[in-house]
Amino acid sequence: MTLPIITIDGPSGVGKGTLAQWVACKTGFHFLDSGAIYRALAYGVLAEELSVDSVAEITDLAQQLPVRFLATSVFYAEQDITAQIRTEAVAAIASQVAAIAQVREALLARQRAFAQLPGLVADGRDMGTVVFPEAPLKLYLTASAEIRAQRRVKQLKNQGIDANIPQIIQDIVARDERDATRKTAPLVAAQDAVMIDTTELSIEAVCQQTESLLWEKGFLS
Ligand code: C5P
Repeated sequence: MTLPIITIDGPSGVGKGTLAQWVACKTGFHFLDSGAIYRALAYGVLAEELSVDSVAEITDLAQQLPVRFLATSVFYAEQDITAQIRTEAVAAIASQVAAIAQVREALLARQRAFAQLPGLVADGRDMGTVVFPEAPLKLYLTASAEIRAQRRVKQLKNQGIDANIPQIIQDIVARDERDATRKTAPLVAAQDAVMIDTTELSIEAVCQQTESLLWEKGFLS
């Protein structure tokens, strides 16, 4: 039996996380926020004061990354890092270490271990192309950089983090460029992914569209 896996990929601030959590709730499936793993690694790189060029040391850290998920919280060893890993500074380092092929390889098994019954919703950049290429439903979300920056600013403000739109647009564009042009597992839609442009859509509309797909593919009955 193939395990029911739904992958949701796309660039930063496109609404993947919100949609993925909604789908996980709707289906009762497990949830993998793969970006949080790369962010936890970035946190570790900063905490251990490693240089982003130290491929061997970062790969070692990735192999034994002491990250744990507990409900909606992320822990690094015993420390709750849920809020710390959401900053743009951590995101920028995450995107740099995520470009290292050995690091991605080291994190593959850890991500695949989330695939357990009754099923999995996996959110990231390469969920449908590399980590779970056999997934029966793959979504790829897109939206203009401006709208993604606006959403990110709102999200950061809700978390009490001050941010301005031009700076965030710049950060998002740089991060997407790095994610899309890296050699290993670049940000790209799987050939069999359903594309959803969320620029003009509310999150409710995206969920509604996704719900139809869930029924169509037999994830809901
Ligand atoms: O999704 P999120 O913004 O939390 O991801 C942070 C960074 O982690 C991304 O910019 C990307 O470089 C990296 N990432 C990745 N592959 C994934 C998930 C995240 O390369 N599957």
